[in-house]
Amino acid sequence: MIILCLFQAVSLNIFCLNGGVAGNIAYTMALLGHPCLLMASVGNDAETYINQLQNVGVDVSGIKFFEDEFTSSFFVSTDQQNRQIASFFIGAMGRASEIHFHEQDYQQVKLAIISPNAPDAMDMYVDECQEFNIPYVYDPSQQIPRSTCNTLRHGIDGAYMLIANDYELELIKDKTRLSLDTLKGMVKVLIVTRGKEGSTIYTEGERFHVPIVPVERIADPTGVGDAYRAGLLAGHGQGLGWQEAGQVGSIAAAYVLEQVGTQKHNCTKAEFAQRYFQHFERTPRLETFFEV
Ligand SMILES: Nc1ncnc2c1ncn2[C@@H]1O[C@H](COP(=O)(O)OP(=O)(O)OP(=O)(O)O)[C@@H](O)[C@H]1O
Ligand SMILES: [Mg+2]
Repeated sequence: MIILCLFQAVSLNIFCLNGGVAGNIAYTMALLGHPCLLMASVGNDAETYINQLQNVGVDVSGIKFFEDEFTSSFFVSTDQQNRQIASFFIGAMGRASEIHFHEQDYQQVKLAIISPNAPDAMDMYVDECQEFNIPYVYDPSQQIPRSTCNTLRHGIDGAYMLIANDYELELIKDKTRLSLDTLKGMVKVLIVTRGKEGSTIYTEGERFHVPIVPVERIADPTGVGDAYRAGLLAGHGQGLGWQEAGQVGSIAAAYVLEQVGTQKHNCTKAEFAQRYFQHFERTPRLETFFEV
């Protein structure tokens, strides 16, 4: 089981769409049939959204409703070159530190992902994972600019995995004054996503490049990183090797790029498998993963 921290609702132009890092990751994991528990703080306006996540198979029992808050909102404008300007209303996310791992069935948790959230909550989740020996993925992304050197070092130091895009990795190196080699030595797996250049997975002295797969169109780039994480973690959670798991992430990212919105893609596991096998090698292990 995987626990995901953070939640927010996304608004794109005039559309109001479900979103937020945790919701996005959980949605795609559910499409892949991978169990996950969402830990998030939401306001009094989130019932429909939570029901939709539940209907696709997400365990929403870790969600806490705050009746005196609105759910967080993220407003993003994207131009024709996919450059984005965003603004954020924190709302219920400001209460994320009122949710704790000890309130969940944390002994069943195989891996948690600590994604961008209220900074105090992220620090607390790191402490709780370390205290309860819960392996965690440290995914600070949008919160890196607001994080101190000590916060980042503390989060990375006990992490199982560090994941960031190439720009964020440079920020991490700059803020922590740690080199790529040192960072690689601090975690079991370091993953750098590089947009249309694909991604690089560093683990235990090995380095894998994972290419992108072609997309029919780029309707909206928002949420591509979340989809990649969902595919990667679902693959890893079900015993795939790192390269294969990254390839699952690459396919998931392609599905998201083709739709406006971060939870508008939809496919069966068999359709996902078919697209995977068009681009990557078919092995018995992958057939087991995809149940084909
Ligand atoms: N243009 C593209 N075509 C196909 N796949 C892509 C494209 N851009 C990104 N991807 C896939 O998505 C992964 C994550 O992309 P990227 O590095 O842009 O994440 P990000 O910057 O964190 O995105 P986000 O805007 O969601 O935060 C890449 O490693 C790649 O596999
Ligand atoms: Mg990102």
